[in-house]
Amino acid sequence: MQRNTSFDFTLQNAQGESCVAQAWAKVRPSLDAAERFALKQRIQEALKQRNAVLIAHYYVDGDLQDLALETGGYVADSLEMARFGRNHAAETLVVAGVRFMGETAKILSPEKTVLMPDLDATCSLDLGCPADEFSAFCDAHPDRTVVVYANTSAAVKARADWMVTSSCALEIVQHLKDRGEKILWAPDRHLGRYIQEQTGADLVLWQGDCIVHNEFKSEELAMLRRAHPDARVLVHPESPAGVTAQADMVGSTSALLKAVVEGDASTYIVATDKGLFHRMRQLAPGKHLIEAPTAGESATCKSCAQCPWMAMNGLEGVLQCLTKGIGEIQVAPETQRRAHRCIDRMLEFTQQRSGTLRQGLVPHLGAV
Ligand code: 13P
Ligand code: SF4
Repeated sequence: MQRNTSFDFTLQNAQGESCVAQAWAKVRPSLDAAERFALKQRIQEALKQRNAVLIAHYYVDGDLQDLALETGGYVADSLEMARFGRNHAAETLVVAGVRFMGETAKILSPEKTVLMPDLDATCSLDLGCPADEFSAFCDAHPDRTVVVYANTSAAVKARADWMVTSSCALEIVQHLKDRGEKILWAPDRHLGRYIQEQTGADLVLWQGDCIVHNEFKSEELAMLRRAHPDARVLVHPESPAGVTAQADMVGSTSALLKAVVEGDASTYIVATDKGLFHRMRQLAPGKHLIEAPTAGESATCKSCAQCPWMAMNGLEGVLQCLTKGIGEIQVAPETQRRAHRCIDRMLEFTQQRSGTLRQGLVPHLGAV
């Protein structure tokens, strides 16, 4: 029988007031080794039959990450998932991640079929930034360039001038600041604050947060650092200020991975979703990785550094969407057309600056 889990997240209205709302996610039943093996075999066949490619985010189940690489697909952060899906010749993209990633793939490739293992896999940032409220917020700040994080709905992107991901947000905001532009930023307040500190840009911030990264605790992190004085601290910028302030390095998922693979330290305390540890262990097997502290596993699911929506992606869902065609992403043509502008702008900008901007990426990831 299907089990669900529920938790609180931050929702903002058009007046900038935040309130607490409730969200839910499904909990997948666990599979034994024989079941996983059989499913993987069937998925490989189905991918071939449908001329499909599997694109997985670093936070999803390790089996899916491995299968993506074994079948000629890709494991990446949200920026590179978008680029890979757009450039790949397959007729069907199977996106293992959360809904905004599937929507971005569809917006960039409207001619392709985009399938997801579970369309209910969402994100607290997306949920906390409803399109109507966001549009009213933009109307209240007509003099500002609208920059939205990738973790938003297609309808929110349709209202934006730029989309950014955590691997290019700093550079794009710096570029806009250098052009003298004032910015409206949504929805992650921690990433917005971090960018503001780093660039000195004039930002008004939407007050959303990620239920996973928002849980990292600064006092407990300080204690852990004292216990491991030689460890390097790596933090995703969706984390609270007291956590990023203690970081040796703040960066996107791909930048954190690169820091572990290429770093000369032997121990790393990592503040991000623990799904990323799968790839870190594969690419840096000799390194000691420690999870940054949250409220602890005995508390709610949101406090064990694992995104409950990313965790909804499993082998069963991938097979089902491929064989039954369920889980197809649809984006209304007008929304698609308008959202395409801000995503394309980001892809062009990052492409042009690839020498410096994409330094956060590990180029050989797809091949390993
Ligand atoms: P990336 O853009 O680094 O892949 O992060 C996406 C995300 O959802 C982080 O929580
Ligand atoms: Fe959204 Fe946070 Fe999950 Fe990333 S980890 S998809 S930001 S809820």
